[in-house]
Amino acid sequence: VIGIFDSGVGGLCALKKVKELFVREDIVYFGDTGRVPYGPKSAETIKKYAYQDASFLATHGIDAMIVACGTVSSTALDGLKERFDIPIIGVIEGAARKAVSVSKNGKIAVIGTKATVSSGSFERAVKEQRKDVETYAVACPLFVPLVENGFVSEDDGITAAACEHYLRSVKEFGADTLILGCTHFPIISGAISSYLPGVELIDCAAEAAELLRERYSGKQGENGKVEYYVSDDPDAFCSLARTFLDSDVNERVRLIDIEKYS
Ligand code: DGL
Repeated sequence: VIGIFDSGVGGLCALKKVKELFVREDIVYFGDTGRVPYGPKSAETIKKYAYQDASFLATHGIDAMIVACGTVSSTALDGLKERFDIPIIGVIEGAARKAVSVSKNGKIAVIGTKATVSSGSFERAVKEQRKDVETYAVACPLFVPLVENGFVSEDDGITAAACEHYLRSVKEFGADTLILGCTHFPIISGAISSYLPGVELIDCAAEAAELLRERYSGKQGENGKVEYYVSDDPDAFCSLARTFLDSDVNERVRLIDIEKYS
């Protein structure tokens, strides 16, 4: 069983790739829709939420976990690894590796939440892989509520305006590679690409799933069942998930009280 959590729907980008790579593995997904967004919150609060989210998943007997959230991966990954004795994969390492391998001009930009960008996590990881790259990072806090509220189509005017606002400096920097350092962002990759044509976009959630494949070989005897849990409004989660998961969320999305876990 693989556990995946995020503050909301963004982690479904990881789930999609995990389903491709681990066809028969059971998955438990938790989206903390009652407390999203995590990005503007303090490190202390993000850590508390992360431990609660992971503790909830641990009650399902998971064998491995993807922290499908750039914000939590930047703030609480080491703490989670200390607490839970299973393979735990965040979204930073795989994305940094991929970015370094595809960039030709050595200019790599990162976008993420405020907490992610101020932690410097992706930039540090990129430079650990290759010293002679130039990095630039910018926080795009409005992207998260845009995604959570369904403003996800490529030609959405509001999302296009937000792209222009946040990504102008990425264009000026001259990046040929952009790490989508928040798992909500691949959902609006169409709008991001329209503003930055020719720039290679790195999906940190998909790269985390690839990394998990390298570190966890999967469990025999499972049948690819997915369970979804959220901390608020299962119907809204379900209809949003439908807009970007190739398959419908047919399973019932269950509501839980995440504050019960610690
Ligand atoms: N999907 C999350 C991330 O990757 C968080 C968005 C948020 O809750 O602010 O950072």
